[in-house]
Amino acid sequence: MAIYHNSQSLASPIEATITTMKPDDKICYCFHVPLRKLFHYARREKPRRASQMSECLNAGTGCGWCIPILQKIHGLVEDGFVLEEDQHIAGLPETAEDYENARKQYLKSDKKHTF
Ligand code: FES
Repeated sequence: MAIYHNSQSLASPIEATITTMKPDDKICYCFHVPLRKLFHYARREKPRRASQMSECLNAGTGCGWCIPILQKIHGLVEDGFVLEEDQHIAGLPETAEDYENARKQYLKSDKKHTF
């Protein structure tokens, strides 16, 4: 049994392995729309098509980076998924930092608006 003598030695490995997108993390960077707002919008408004997720603060109508995530959220809510704190959601990026860095690469690439 391991005994830890300070909180740093215990906290760091846990933080490194249990990370996930948080409800307040931004999904649409162009319009600053967080994950929580998108889930609540989909649950409340029940858009028939994923493209109608854009009616939530114009999400997805800028650079297009977040469109696959909007489609994922739409599908999850249609299937009855309920968002909870600190919950890993398959198909979403591991962390907000990973997601933001991937978007920076996307903006530099030729793949914009090719969904
Ligand atoms: S990040 Fe959503 S449209 Fe650009």
